[in-house]
Amino acid sequence: MTQPGAATKIVLPESEIPTRWYNILADMPSPPDPPLHPGTKQPPAPEDLAPLFPMDLIEQEVSGQRYFDIPEPVRDVYRLWRPTPLYRAHRLERALGTPARIYYKYEGTSPAGSHKPNTSVAQAYYNRRAGITRLTTETGAGQWGSALAFAARQFDLEIRVYMVKVSYEQKPYRRLMIETWGGEVVSSPSRLTASGRRILEDDPDSPGSLGIAISEAVEEAAGRKDTNYSLGSVLNHVLLHQTVIGQEAQKQFALVGDYPDVVIACCGGGSNFGGLAFPFLHDRFTGNAPKAARVVAAEPAACPTLTRGVYAYDFGDTAGLTPLMKMYTLGHGFIPPGIHAGGLRYHGDSPIVSKLVRDGHVQAQAYSQVGVFEAAVQFARTEGIIPAPESAHAVKGAVEEALAAKAEGTPRTILFGLSGHGHFDLAAYDQYLRGRLQDYEYPAEMVEKALADLPVVPGA
Ligand SMILES: Cc1ncc(COP(=O)(O)O)c(C=O)c1O
Repeated sequence: MTQPGAATKIVLPESEIPTRWYNILADMPSPPDPPLHPGTKQPPAPEDLAPLFPMDLIEQEVSGQRYFDIPEPVRDVYRLWRPTPLYRAHRLERALGTPARIYYKYEGTSPAGSHKPNTSVAQAYYNRRAGITRLTTETGAGQWGSALAFAARQFDLEIRVYMVKVSYEQKPYRRLMIETWGGEVVSSPSRLTASGRRILEDDPDSPGSLGIAISEAVEEAAGRKDTNYSLGSVLNHVLLHQTVIGQEAQKQFALVGDYPDVVIACCGGGSNFGGLAFPFLHDRFTGNAPKAARVVAAEPAACPTLTRGVYAYDFGDTAGLTPLMKMYTLGHGFIPPGIHAGGLRYHGDSPIVSKLVRDGHVQAQAYSQVGVFEAAVQFARTEGIIPAPESAHAVKGAVEEALAAKAEGTPRTILFGLSGHGHFDLAAYDQYLRGRLQDYEYPAEMVEKALADLPVVPGA
């Protein structure tokens, strides 16, 4: 065993890639409320979801089974980059002068540069096995779209990605990655779907949003037999697939004889957060660990779903085509300010993560953009890796925690998720370095307006 604290990079052999995904629904003290059909307001039957998803994924979505075996073809693709390294941030610790031990689990070594392929590969595999030949999806800044394009190529699927217009125009590199892997990219709102055309008629200058792009991708998949829809976050099966992250981290901590006091991850739709945190929450719920880790979800102050949203049934998309989910939401019509952490600009959140926050098992913390980039640059200058703007929220959370340890004079072990690199987000760093990056106030008026449109669910 390496002495606690001695290693910089804690690595596992390929044979230690997890063989199963962990489903936290099996252990939650109180389960989340079920999704509801947007028309009947009743829980949807599996057949209602069948136009969009293959049965294997529908089963994973609704099941309370604790573990699902990872199919060998999926593990085989995982071998391209998994297990991912766990780092001890010696240099950042020294710069902060903290008594805390800081570790980070780095998912930026995947081909797409983030945690997203952990689920895109699984989703592409199950769709192919069900005889599907095409996928549609949405993407914000392009992380998810590129991850799904990579996975689709591995399993010979065609893919069309509806990319939020503002990113399509301003961020060409991820669009080009998608095209390099053979995917098609469409600027959303588009003229290809009824909901896109409606939005463009109302507002030809709409910058687009994830909610609109989801509507378009769902609409197309629902209308074609050869095509399914794939979502990169929020849903239970997506969070399930991401739990390879936390399971590996547990083995890596065991290797160095340490265990986190606090686990921090950024949270957009919740998949990166759930992937890292759920195996540690399993330890806590089952009393199966040397200590009970505190768990923190970090989000942007400009889109503060968990810290300022309401806990209510809402649609997952702008047009109201998806099932209603009980979650923290800022309203499905909310279009967040154009912060650089595109993957955290979502009006809602995973129903599981929302319920865990609601019940006090998870703390949420919101950070403003300039402070987040300040932490990201400090991290880059000490540890070397340039974080994705989304991941930088977790860096900020870890720095705050380490400074609190210093102020209190109490050591602690901090684990945070570095969900991706920021090599295609350098324009944001450019703005920060030239003092041009701005903070956004909590968009109270916009949220109020969007919340006025929440669907009415009797008895909820
Ligand atoms: C690098 C990175 N981290 C985190 C996220 C947030 O998504 P989620 O909350 O589903 O992990 C994204 C989303 O695009 C991302 O690209």
